[in-house]
Amino acid sequence: ARGGELKGKKLVITAGGTREALDPVRYLTNRSSGKMGYALAQVAAELGATVVLITTTKREELYGVREIVVTSTRDMHTAVVQEFSDADVFISSAAVSDYRPASQAENKIKKVGHENLTIELIQNPDILSDIGHMKKAGQIVVGFAAETQNVLASAQKKLSKKNADFLIANDVSNVDSGFDSDNNKVTILSRDKDPEKIELLPKIDIARAILDRVVKTLA
Ligand code: PMT
Repeated sequence: ARGGELKGKKLVITAGGTREALDPVRYLTNRSSGKMGYALAQVAAELGATVVLITTTKREELYGVREIVVTSTRDMHTAVVQEFSDADVFISSAAVSDYRPASQAENKIKKVGHENLTIELIQNPDILSDIGHMKKAGQIVVGFAAETQNVLASAQKKLSKKNADFLIANDVSNVDSGFDSDNNKVTILSRDKDPEKIELLPKIDIARAILDRVVKTLA
């Protein structure tokens, strides 16, 4: 039986790739489509949760989901911190830029005489890590790890370093899952249980598997 398992709970979910401006017309970003985050928001709403989806991309309108559209990592950070204070769960499915251009040109960068152009990048805040270290008893934090090598070991490090309760590891080196695909293949890591490998499935079913764990942990 489905429905009501997350009634009275507030979930904050991020989706999409953050965009970091170089000048008024150019930006750095990644291949995230927002599909994983939207699938999580849809399932959470079906389970009766109050859902806030903080996203860089507009996809289908979801019944019962409040959307906040943001662009940069810093904007996403501000929105997440604000919404998390009275939330029960945070799920960081957005692909967040680790770096941004050190400065943003006020005017379009021109092609001038030289062959090479160097862009200096500086580190962005880490939203998941900040929220992980901010959470109070009873609040659950779920992160993702997009990896192309040493998938489980890298994800395990992120779980503890970012103080998350669950870390969803996806191998994004394969085009049939991860970024922009309708399917995903993940392993769910948690604090006290063995890693749980999930077969290649549509993102909506991956979202169900993740939220099942969240429901059980909240109970
Ligand atoms: O959007 P789709 O096309 O559907 O693709 C889904 C996805 C592959 C993007 C998604 O499943 C996924 O893996 N999202 C996390 C991507 C990512 O940023 O991974 P990471 O290993 O670089 O970061 C680890 C975790 O820290 C993530 O939860 C990320 O949201 C978070 N993070 C990272 C950097 C940063 N500055 N702030 C963060 O909060």
